[in-house]
Amino acid sequence: ASSLGAAAAQSGRYFGTAVAAGKLSNGTYAGILDREFNMITPENEMKWDATEPSRGSFNFGSADQIVSHAQAHGQRMRGHTLVWHSQLPNWVSALSATDLQTAMDNHITQVMNHFKGKIYAWDVVNEAFADGSTQHRSSPFQDKLGNGFIEHAFRTARSVDANVKLCYNDYNIENWSDAKTQGVYSMVKDFKARGVPIDCVGFQSHFGSGGAPASLQTTLSNFAALGVDVQLTEVDIAQASSSAYAGTVNACLNVARCTGITVWGIRDSDSWRSGDNPLLFDGNGNAKAAYTSVLNALNAA
Ligand code: G3I
Repeated sequence: ASSLGAAAAQSGRYFGTAVAAGKLSNGTYAGILDREFNMITPENEMKWDATEPSRGSFNFGSADQIVSHAQAHGQRMRGHTLVWHSQLPNWVSALSATDLQTAMDNHITQVMNHFKGKIYAWDVVNEAFADGSTQHRSSPFQDKLGNGFIEHAFRTARSVDANVKLCYNDYNIENWSDAKTQGVYSMVKDFKARGVPIDCVGFQSHFGSGGAPASLQTTLSNFAALGVDVQLTEVDIAQASSSAYAGTVNACLNVARCTGITVWGIRDSDSWRSGDNPLLFDGNGNAKAAYTSVLNALNAA
């Protein structure tokens, strides 16, 4: 196949990208998006500060723009993200524990209901674990609601939509021996053992120039063996070498339950770390060498 999405589809997978609503009117940007990608994650538009900037008043304008684009071009959507300590409006952080629980439940309910039927998978909770540790990080949710907030969020999400896939998403959980990886693994194992609804784990995969840790495939296999799908959800690699990209993509392709790969932006100039030139297209929209290595890897799977 001659595009990333079609090549991934040959093995039943998707190939996606983060999208910013404000760029959809750019012809070069939209041209690459619709030619290459069959899954879209809104880069910022579904986050709490965008969707519920003040309590109880919801704004879905820019997210709806992306969903409409996806529907018009046959692309599926990953929902990103319902419960995250960052891009969280100040009003949420200021709530008492009781009010915070009510507000979290309401946020999950309203946002999921608005997009019901239009989303393949939701990142229900994002980045809840601390770096270098097996424990949760400090956040308004953790500090006021306690360890159970993640389980509560997943149970609430399942009660709103019985069909959508529910994911936990994080970074620095790609190396099997890292404490953070082990912490998330223990949580997923515990959730599966107790019947807490969780369908997938997203490995963000923001890598340095060396690419993925050598254990990435092991990590993906071990999580998959717990009975969840795994996905690479925000891939970008400093300097985007062909070998680093191929290694990352092949780690997923070698694991049956690794169902898809998303890169975190289209052109280098679209990246949150644009100084690293970490994506598959250059600032002019030309495919880089890493693009060819990814396409070849997908076609060989
Ligand atoms: O929308 C405001 C605009 O009104 C304001 O004038 C402007 C001035 O700074 O800021 C705009 O907001 C920016 C927003 O992106 C939208 O462009 C924020 O400052 C900026 O911090 C924000 O950055 C995003 C970042 O998440 C915030 O945490 C990046 O675009 C986005 O790529 C990045 O994505 C995250 C994932 O969600 C989770 N994993 C890590 C990943 C990379 O950091």
